[in-house]
Amino acid sequence: MKVAVVKESAPGERRVALVPETVQKLGQGGFEVLVERGAGDAAWFPDDAYTAAGATIAAADELYAAADVVLTVTRPEPGRLRAGQAVIGMLGPLTDPQLARALAERGVTAISLDGLPRTLSRTQGMDALSSQANVAGYKAALVAAEAYGRFFPLLITAAGTARPAKLLVLGAGVAGLQAIGTARRLGAQVSGYDVRPASKGEVESLGAAFIELSVSAAGEGGYARELTAAERDTQQAELAGHIARHDVIITTAQVPGRRPPLLVTADAVAAMAPGSVIVDMGSSSLGGNVAGSVPGQAVVTDNGVTVIGAENLAATVPTAASNAYSRNVSALLLALVGDDDQGRKALRIDTTDEIQAGVVVAHGGEVVHPAVAKLLAAETANQGS
Ligand code: NAI
Repeated sequence: MKVAVVKESAPGERRVALVPETVQKLGQGGFEVLVERGAGDAAWFPDDAYTAAGATIAAADELYAAADVVLTVTRPEPGRLRAGQAVIGMLGPLTDPQLARALAERGVTAISLDGLPRTLSRTQGMDALSSQANVAGYKAALVAAEAYGRFFPLLITAAGTARPAKLLVLGAGVAGLQAIGTARRLGAQVSGYDVRPASKGEVESLGAAFIELSVSAAGEGGYARELTAAERDTQQAELAGHIARHDVIITTAQVPGRRPPLLVTADAVAAMAPGSVIVDMGSSSLGGNVAGSVPGQAVVTDNGVTVIGAENLAATVPTAASNAYSRNVSALLLALVGDDDQGRKALRIDTTDEIQAGVVVAHGGEVVHPAVAKLLAAETANQGS
């Protein structure tokens, strides 16, 4: 089976789907790995490291023509893929269902790590959402520290004493917990908040204080559910007082397939002291957790608050993020491959399998993932009306 690693095309994307160490392991397992020239450069994995690991370096045209399975980190270029090929990556089918449709129409089997059932013990090693959120949460604390005009830790020097920064993390999932841990290691005085009551123990186990509000919203599969309008208003109002008492806020709140919830309103930003910093990890084209955050930009408000729209932080720690992603994507690949009648390796697509039901988005010319198919049907119905 020929597995191809393409150079990512999204702006600012520095990760690569496979690192040389994993290439070597796949080679030992009987896979032939092709790597697009320069695919690992931005993550500090040069072509010769892939060659030494047993890969063949190829130009894009040659690679797409030969590949059975194309591995990407984010969105592939559908026009380059052909019928019978498979692509595995983080395809974001719930936010970009059109990509799923384009791949299905081309007869491409599309497999997305975003849909992996994350609570099964056998999927832990494939959980790219967690591995990338972990990297992003770490970086969020560093981005906040860099933008902040004071120290994070308590420092007692001959030139005076600096009090520790008061930092609040809103949304204590994988990214939020890593941001809490990293900010604590930098010496900040850290608090955390989440709508899922289960997160209290996790926040406290990291040595941070947990902020409890009156709204609680545990959803399915360990995720938060979307709040009602009344709950949202209550949450925003109760959070505002806490936000004003902090110097640095990091927001990470997401609800799968929905617009990120607005946690920090314009009034809450206006009540913060000059020099405060907000890092909005929920920032995307769909909106963010913070009023006025712009994806990819640092905006300084009239009252001197720096609001950073931190879109894809995992890509800014490309070596660590690629190392982890490479293990995740190869573990999923190995779980999907079996031997065909002639003893050759082949993908075995079976959407009755619990893992495959989550990750297989398009197969046999159809969008087979029910939630994605439903989104596309709703779009078509809207266009018709
Ligand atoms: P996520 O990236 O979807 O969301 C980040 C956080 O935002 C979540 O903790 C969520 O509860 C919170 N959030 C959503 N709406 C909010 C609101 N209105 N206000 C405040 N917070 C809000 O979440 P992530 O990091 O992907 O993890 C989701 C869950 O999955 C967690 O319970 C996590 O522990 C669990 N998980 C379990 C794994 C396992 O069992 N192996 C692996 C990975 C995650």
